[in-house]
Amino acid sequence: MTALAEMGTLREILVRPASTSDRALLRAMYEGFEPRPASLGLPPRQGLDQWLEKLNGTVDFVAVSGGEVVGHAVLCPDGDAGEVAVFVRQEYRVQGIGSRLLKTVVEEARRLGLRIVWGMTERDNVPMLRLAHGVGFEQDEKDPYRFQMNLKPDLGLGG
Ligand SMILES: CC(C)(COP(=O)(O)OP(=O)(O)OC[C@H]1O[C@@H](n2cnc3c(N)ncnc32)[C@H](O)[C@@H]1OP(=O)(O)O)[C@@H](O)C(=O)NCCC(=O)NCCS
Repeated sequence: MTALAEMGTLREILVRPASTSDRALLRAMYEGFEPRPASLGLPPRQGLDQWLEKLNGTVDFVAVSGGEVVGHAVLCPDGDAGEVAVFVRQEYRVQGIGSRLLKTVVEEARRLGLRIVWGMTERDNVPMLRLAHGVGFEQDEKDPYRFQMNLKPDLGLGG
């Protein structure tokens, strides 16, 4: 296998809903995640297991390559809004995986009937802000840490 393939560049990336059986693979991804924390304290350097435990009850998706989890996106629904967060392992960044994951959680939010999806990060987190902007999120005018998107109801085609 070439070095590029080894890095994941040439490998197929599958994005799919996470399941409880992914927990060990997710833990492995976050254990080697750099920087940690990367955004507003997440993923945490201490208490990884407790944090992963809290993700039970959220809607989450994984990006998988060669049997490893290389990316993870979370949607936390609360009423008609949902908070999103995306994490891609450092060796796999800037290959479109974050965009695929974020688009997937936005579609899931739409399917669940949510009206707003939003997230928070530091103002200097250029990768996340560019990612969010590219998927259609806008910066909140009142809160520069927050990016959000209003989801239009799916009008459907049938009667
Ligand atoms: C933010 C993050 C998820 C982006 O994932 P990714 O897979 O690299 O994103 P993509 O490859 O889909 O890139 C999306 C856009 O961001 C841009 N981008 C990504 N990394 C960038 C960087 N370091 N500098 C400038 N732009 C960058 C890409 O060029 C692309 O822009 P485009 O749509 O205009 O072409 C990833 O950098 C990461 O895991 N960061 C640490 C965790 C974090 O901060 N998460 C945010 C929690 S809310």
